[in-house]
Amino acid sequence: MKIITVIGSGLIGRSWAMLFVSGGYNVKIYDNQPGQSAKAITEIKKQLVELEEAHMLRGELSAAQQLALLSSYDDLSQALDGAFFVQECVFEQLEVKQSIFHDMERFVGKDVILSSSTSCLVPSKVFSKVQNRSRCLVSHPVNPPYYVKLVELVPHPETAAAVMDTTHALMTKVGQAPVLLKKEIDGFALNRVQAAIIAESWRLVQDGVISVKDIDLVMSEGLGMRYAFIGPMETMHLNAPKGLEDYMSRYSENITRMLSSFGPVPDFCGEAAKSVINEMYELIPCDQQHLAARQERRDQFLMRLAKLKKD
Ligand SMILES: NC(=O)c1ccc[n+]([C@@H]2O[C@H](COP(=O)([O-])OP(=O)(O)OC[C@H]3O[C@@H](n4cnc5c(N)ncnc54)[C@H](O)[C@@H]3O)[C@@H](O)[C@H]2O)c1
Ligand SMILES: *[C@@H]1O[C@H](CO)[C@@H](O)[C@H](O)[C@H]1NC(C)=O
Ligand SMILES: *[C@@H]1O[C@H](CO)[C@@H](O)[C@H](O)[C@H]1NC(C)=O
Repeated sequence: MKIITVIGSGLIGRSWAMLFVSGGYNVKIYDNQPGQSAKAITEIKKQLVELEEAHMLRGELSAAQQLALLSSYDDLSQALDGAFFVQECVFEQLEVKQSIFHDMERFVGKDVILSSSTSCLVPSKVFSKVQNRSRCLVSHPVNPPYYVKLVELVPHPETAAAVMDTTHALMTKVGQAPVLLKKEIDGFALNRVQAAIIAESWRLVQDGVISVKDIDLVMSEGLGMRYAFIGPMETMHLNAPKGLEDYMSRYSENITRMLSSFGPVPDFCGEAAKSVINEMYELIPCDQQHLAARQERRDQFLMRLAKLKKD
């Protein structure tokens, strides 16, 4: 039986555990807070049962069968025993990650893949205390991974091609949608594209071109309608009679002109920023009750969109 170890049993560790058992893997969960990984399994059990009732459980196995694949450990060496793949999900702090990978290396065989969930730290930093970095990579999920399938696979400069391939195959097998970065870069791909969207949206509101409410509609009722199933590249390719080259010969001059009129990188502070922020608070008051209700709505819609995409 193939074993995967999940290190850290917070939000993301629990999500990875659920994905891996949905693919039929044995999953050993470790957390350095005593009792925390056992609590995580109780929480996962609740979620698996709810997902089964809602007919949203992933994989071929029942909730009970998936649950039987899980085990919890307060001891690192026991947790790593027998694993072929390790997914790290501890706090997003460089020293914490560096030290847990350093510790792990003593307890795993030479072919075991060491993968980090980091959102913001580049592999060359995360793995700087590992001796054999050819087995290391970042597998960056998107929250909530159960409904948003993208995983960015980011290599260390020394990562072996076979390690990228094996991880790609594993992610595909558990039903995620892996993408390969060919080299590391700050923010990987998703957060860089997101930052570009945030920057121009912010500038348009701050410069008095459009309201907060309406810029969000530009995405949710406009671009986002396509982006849930085709990306910006295919969008362009389909939007000119003879494809992408034709699109560029028609529009590139205007796109370039527009791009050169974009303002500087916003600093998101000061009086101007305050007024953008207050505009949002008028739409959705910044208190626990309103935020929780909107988060619940977002998660419900994501779940339904995931279902739609599956069908
Ligand atoms: N939350 C998100 O939306 C999201 C999305 C993508 C990636 N990530 C990344 O996933 C990682 C985990 O995030 P999270 O939201 O699950 O955090 P979290 O705070 O919910 O969970 C972290 C868990 O790690 C445990 N832990 C801390 N130090 C440890 C150690 N040395 N050994 C073992 N366990 C340890 C903690 O006890 C806790 O249970 C971070 O690197 C984060 O950037 C998070
Ligand atoms: C380093 O890791 C790679 C990839 O897992 C492995 O093939 C290789 O044997 C390891 N080298 C050593 C010296 O352990
Ligand atoms: C490009 O912009 C110019 C000037 O605004 C406009 O006249 C022209 O129609 C635009 N071209 C296309 C293909 O949209």
